[in-house]
Amino acid sequence: MRLKSCCVYSVGVVCILLLIGGIAMVLSQVFQKLINNRVKQEIVLVNGTEAFSVWQNPPPPVYMQFYLFNLTNPAEVLDGAKPSVVQIGPYTYREYRSMEEVKVLENGTKVAAINPKTYVFVPNMSRGSEDDLVRTANIPAVTVMEKFQDHSVIGRLIADLMRSMSVGVFGTFRVGDLLWGYEDPLLKALKLLVPLDDHFGLFYKRNGTSGGDYEFLTGTQNYLDFARIDKWNGQSSLNWWSTDDCNMINGTDGASFHPIITKTEKLYMFSTDLCRSLYAVYESDVSVQGVPGFRFVPPSEVFANITINPDNAGFCVTNDTCVGSGLLNISVCKEGAPIIMSSPHFYQADDKYVQDVYGMNPRKEEHETAIDINPLTGLLLRAAKRLQVNVFLEQMSVFSQTEKIRTLVYPVMYINESVVIDEESAEKLQVVVTEANVVINIPFIVIGLGILLGVAFIVLICHQKGPQSTAAERQPLLAS
Ligand SMILES: *[C@@H]1O[C@H](CO)[C@@H](O)[C@H](O)[C@H]1NC(C)=O
Ligand SMILES: *[C@@H]1O[C@H](CO)[C@@H](O)[C@H](O)[C@H]1NC(C)=O
Ligand SMILES: *[C@@H]1O[C@H](CO)[C@@H](O)[C@H](O)[C@H]1NC(C)=O
Ligand SMILES: *[C@@H]1O[C@H](CO)[C@@H](O)[C@H](O)[C@H]1NC(C)=O
Ligand SMILES: *[C@@H]1O[C@H](CO)[C@@H](O)[C@H](O)[C@H]1NC(C)=O
Ligand SMILES: *[C@@H]1O[C@H](CO)[C@@H](O)[C@H](O)[C@H]1NC(C)=O
Ligand SMILES: *[C@@H]1O[C@H](CO)[C@@H](O)[C@H](O)[C@H]1NC(C)=O
Ligand SMILES: *[C@@H]1O[C@H](CO)[C@@H](O)[C@H](O)[C@H]1NC(C)=O
Repeated sequence: MRLKSCCVYSVGVVCILLLIGGIAMVLSQVFQKLINNRVKQEIVLVNGTEAFSVWQNPPPPVYMQFYLFNLTNPAEVLDGAKPSVVQIGPYTYREYRSMEEVKVLENGTKVAAINPKTYVFVPNMSRGSEDDLVRTANIPAVTVMEKFQDHSVIGRLIADLMRSMSVGVFGTFRVGDLLWGYEDPLLKALKLLVPLDDHFGLFYKRNGTSGGDYEFLTGTQNYLDFARIDKWNGQSSLNWWSTDDCNMINGTDGASFHPIITKTEKLYMFSTDLCRSLYAVYESDVSVQGVPGFRFVPPSEVFANITINPDNAGFCVTNDTCVGSGLLNISVCKEGAPIIMSSPHFYQADDKYVQDVYGMNPRKEEHETAIDINPLTGLLLRAAKRLQVNVFLEQMSVFSQTEKIRTLVYPVMYINESVVIDEESAEKLQVVVTEANVVINIPFIVIGLGILLGVAFIVLICHQKGPQSTAAERQPLLAS
């Protein structure tokens, strides 16, 4: 009898211990911390780690898609009408990118690397071929005009030269040439007078070239510094913009992120295409190939005008020439070419720009930049970087070619650079995530066991107090 009740009470004691232990584990987050510490130790740029090889050679395929805008009414636009464009493409390229010439610096706290990207046309993922023709703004001509608009003598000479060569504000180009480079007749003629590169292309010299020398922090000292850019081309900040904040090189290159991402943080990245750093904020929970993730998107404040976001004043190099919301004037980092960046179809930009061109149809799903990240490991699950290249057109008195043209931010093309995690990587990641979930749930399993034992305890007590044992049990109770 005594042995039996001793057993019963032990069950009760164990139940209480499990409950207390479980609750203590939940409150102290001991298993969460254990997992986080392991992840922080493993996700570093140290040769031999999985994170290093993913950073060096990301396994999922990256595709770069180009969409161009074909102008249907060039004569009318020169006469002051609103341009009407038709989107063509995508012209899709597989993008091969890897970190090369990797050197370990400063006892493994930094690595130096270059990140050349190679593009190979994928016909079966494209609509059209590189031999298609597209009619759009003649960027070299507009750039030359912009540069000489205040020199009445040289300007007039160039205006005559352009007329004699029948080069105008708009031209028709082979798609492959416009993207990867062609010899421009106007630049070639000017080359006789001033030394310059007579080739032009939106991605001229971008195939297989380095994109700059990077120095990355490895994250061994602080996990938040994983893959963070410390220097680009030997500089730790830029010099194009007019405030120190705007010139900062913040965050990673957008292909890697630190582990243990929280919903409240700003994820910074530096974009050489935009000549600036920007950030993305949490938008929603997502699941990609069964792996949980957070979607981060750049908020509209990032490209808002200076009334809405005064911090952006540093991106207007001169006070009187601030562009409106959703636009970024990168002329200063494109050797004076009047290039203005935006989201495709002026998504999130001032409606004025959408209304200025027939054929713009901004849509969130197709035109926003979004990054889906696994929060535990910081690995990219899916991403789409979307940017539009525009040319600023205006009347320039020296050039009769622009006599009647409207002041316009004219869209030339946009890119959609995208990646989705491959099945193999997703399966590996799924295992890591599942393991972490099991470990994190240990306290709840313990609490669950405690509750089960509690139930068992109550059942046993009631059973002991069955009809046969009533007298023996009641005596001491009454006595006390
Ligand atoms: C690298 O580590 C060694 C020994 O720990 C130290 O003497 C040296 O100053 C460190 N170098 C750098 C660049 O941190
Ligand atoms: C880029 O370079 C690679 C290898 O040098 C070549 O195969 C590919 O066709 C080039 N792509 C373009 C668009 O020129
Ligand atoms: C496209 O063509 C390549 C070979 O050139 C092939 O490997 C790939 O599976 C094709 N993709 C589609 C979607 O048909
Ligand atoms: C773009 O417009 C030009 C001129 O109308 C036309 O010749 C060309 O075929 C168009 N390009 C595409 C890809 O539709
Ligand atoms: C860079 O980050 C700092 C805060 O760390 C911020 O004040 C600054 O505005 C950022 N600059 C850019 C261009 O994102
Ligand atoms: C910025 O945008 C807001 C809203 O679109 C507008 O009211 C304001 O006038 C704009 N400011 C400038 C300086 O363009
Ligand atoms: C730009 O504007 C600021 C204040 O809005 C003013 O202090 C500064 O002098 C202006 N700079 C130029 C070049 O006009
Ligand atoms: C773009 O910036 C350049 C200076 O970098 C300036 O000369 C030009 O006027 C600006 N363009 C617009 C449309 O504001």
